[in-house]
Amino acid sequence: MAWLEIFNFLHFLGLSFGLGGATIAAILSSKAAKDVDVKKAMGKIMAPVVKLIWVGLVLLIISGIVITPLITWPLNKQMLIIKHVLVAWIVIIGVFLGTRMGKMKRLSGEKDSQKKIVAIEKQVRLLSKINLFLWYLVTLLSAFV
Ligand code: HEM
Repeated sequence: MAWLEIFNFLHFLGLSFGLGGATIAAILSSKAAKDVDVKKAMGKIMAPVVKLIWVGLVLLIISGIVITPLITWPLNKQMLIIKHVLVAWIVIIGVFLGTRMGKMKRLSGEKDSQKKIVAIEKQVRLLSKINLFLWYLVTLLSAFV
């Protein structure tokens, strides 16, 4: 069986889901900042996009772990380690973003929570931008692995 080709394909599929999802999420967020109707619908629209990003990330990590020992050509090990560190940060920031969004949802049902929601929104926007940057950086670095 051509395991290397299969898992390489899954690596690219994960890349499409993850990088594509993160890019769509950023476009939608910037739209929501300017358009109240989009902002109101964000809760519903973002849920499947966030799922797509997580599916992509899980695919990338599993396929990445499988292809590493199967590869027969020389790999830039240092670049691969830097890449692993950046991927770990994408996961950590992603989990934190999830908890912040959950908190925002809970607060939206409470009275006098507007200030807190605005503060969390600011955090979420900054962290999402950092994560989007990391996604592109990891993709760029991967071209040199
Ligand atoms: C956000 C996560 C990740 C992204 C965006 C990503 C992206 C990519 C891309 C675009 C390539 C293709 C480079 C090329 O063919 O020139 C690649 C290759 C590779 N990735 Fe990842 N990757 C991710 C996570 C991982 C992880 C977690 C591992 C290992 C545990 C890994 C291991 C590898 C290896 C070994 C290659 C080289 C494959 C080859 O030379 O054909 N990747 N990655």
